[in-house]
Amino acid sequence: MKRYIDRFSIKDKICIVTGGGGLIGMKHTEAILEGEGIPVLLDIVQNGMDRVKQTALSEYGNDRIIETFTVDITDRTSLENVREILLKKYGHIDVLINNAANNPKVEDASKNLGPIRFHNFPVDMWNQDIAVGLTGAMLCAQVFGEIMEKQKSGVILNISSDYGLIAPDQRIYRKEGLPDDQQMVKPVSYSVVKHGIIGLTKYLAVYWADKGIRVNTLCPASLENGQNEEFIHKISNLIPMGRMSRPDEYVCTVLYMISDASTYMTGATVVLDGGRTSW
Ligand SMILES: NC(=O)c1ccc[n+]([C@@H]2O[C@H](COP(=O)([O-])OP(=O)(O)OC[C@H]3O[C@@H](n4cnc5c(N)ncnc54)[C@H](O)[C@@H]3O)[C@@H](O)[C@H]2O)c1
Repeated sequence: MKRYIDRFSIKDKICIVTGGGGLIGMKHTEAILEGEGIPVLLDIVQNGMDRVKQTALSEYGNDRIIETFTVDITDRTSLENVREILLKKYGHIDVLINNAANNPKVEDASKNLGPIRFHNFPVDMWNQDIAVGLTGAMLCAQVFGEIMEKQKSGVILNISSDYGLIAPDQRIYRKEGLPDDQQMVKPVSYSVVKHGIIGLTKYLAVYWADKGIRVNTLCPASLENGQNEEFIHKISNLIPMGRMSRPDEYVCTVLYMISDASTYMTGATVVLDGGRTSW
């Protein structure tokens, strides 16, 4: 006999994922499909969502539904349009995963940030990062949370990071032979956004605690995604388990957190970091 496994089912639930076309967006999509829910991907770039949709349908079957919307989550009107379309088609909105954030990969210079240190960190970049990672998450919670409040049910999962709990150890981003003023650092806005989203979680968890809406934070950490060997070695030394994570190591936790498997969890911060923040 199995008494509890069905609680992981999110069958036919409408599950919105912001930044759904990115690296972890793919894995959130898989978590939703595993639970038999309907992923609704929101991203400012269509290409990534097309790739996620194609891959996920080839894994889970072409009869599954994946909705995609090209929207900027900092634009409330666009979010309201998505809400109206979803309500007309399905009549309910059940899960919101606030996943989108600017996530500059300092370690491989892919965004060509240049030698931006704290003293010369551009205020434009600060505003842009806060707009996507915090204002966007707040707007999505306003627009989709309003429906959850009317339904008296819903789950919001905010994606933070180990950098929502600890400061980046900037030594792992250093490049041999470069003077201090040429060294890149993980931007201050990333720490602020990732700490801030935990505050948003706690505020909303308490605000909606008696309205049937649960709000929690997941902190992923140190995803291995083609970084160079030197970086992998340096960061692995900071992790008690001695290795970076794989994107698939978050899927089961996400399904747990967005399903009725976690009905008494709200306001919580779940950390998957190989022990890094315990050291
Ligand atoms: N990758 C990691 O190592 C890691 C580690 C810890 C936490 N995280 C967190 O996980 C989340 C996802 O990270 P990722 O690695 O998949 O990032 P990613 O850059 O691959 O994906 C982010 C997605 O957000 C989209 N986006 C950006 N601005 C947007 C906007 N205004 N409106 C709509 N969509 C927008 C981008 O187009 C992109 O597809 C982020 O919150 C990140 O901070 C990532």
